[in-house]
Amino acid sequence: MLKVEDIFTHMPVLETRRLVLRPLSLDDAQDMYDYARDPLVSRYVPWEVHRGIEDTFAYLNTVVEDQLAGRVSSWAVVSKAEDKMVGTAGYVWWQPEHQKAEIGYVLARSLWGQGLISEAAKTIVDFGFTRMELNRIEARCFEENIASARVMEHCGMTFEGRFRDYLRVKGAFCTFRFYSILRREWEEKL
Ligand SMILES: CC(C)(COP(=O)(O)OP(=O)(O)OC[C@H]1O[C@@H](n2cnc3c(N)ncnc32)[C@H](O)[C@@H]1OP(=O)(O)O)[C@@H](O)C(=O)NCCC(=O)NCCS
Repeated sequence: MLKVEDIFTHMPVLETRRLVLRPLSLDDAQDMYDYARDPLVSRYVPWEVHRGIEDTFAYLNTVVEDQLAGRVSSWAVVSKAEDKMVGTAGYVWWQPEHQKAEIGYVLARSLWGQGLISEAAKTIVDFGFTRMELNRIEARCFEENIASARVMEHCGMTFEGRFRDYLRVKGAFCTFRFYSILRREWEEKL
């Protein structure tokens, strides 16, 4: 078993019923660009729509740097049915000293509403409690992003409150909803 601090230098492949979660690579650029160029996909995220595949390569280069440095990074979400990389899901930050981390996720629009990201996110939450020794896992979304809030609820997270005008994103102040699940709550559900 890897030491907890080495987990993201040797990011494991995870599997769910309909998905494979594996490390991202530069080879994912075209599949990622196919969804990241869609303005509805980037509507409620801090990053801008990808205007060309160079934007996707620039992002993936930062991911590869994070992987090489052993920092947290998202998994590529691969649909078994389509045999295609269709999104990302994983940890966006991790504070081992506080045993807490935050998850985030994105999926190609054609696949929304089938429960795929809830399936991925539950597995990533399980990974956080079993492998990363987390005590608290957080997630947050723009107040208008009902689908994302539902994913958090499907993971067993509790709504903790709304932070008004929390971030200025794409020129507008945005209110966020915060959710979390604690280790003891996750253990109760086992
Ligand atoms: C958020 C996102 C990842 C969800 O992925 P998904 O695989 O479609 O999510 P799931 O199917 O697992 O769950 C979505 C839930 O939201 C519900 N939902 C979706 N849109 C909704 C809406 N406009 N109003 C009410 N409910 C909605 C679905 O019915 C489903 O709930 P249910 O299972 O109780 O029926 C996807 O919509 C996405 O990629 N959005 C753009 C990127 C993004 O916003 N990421 C999150 C940043 S915080």
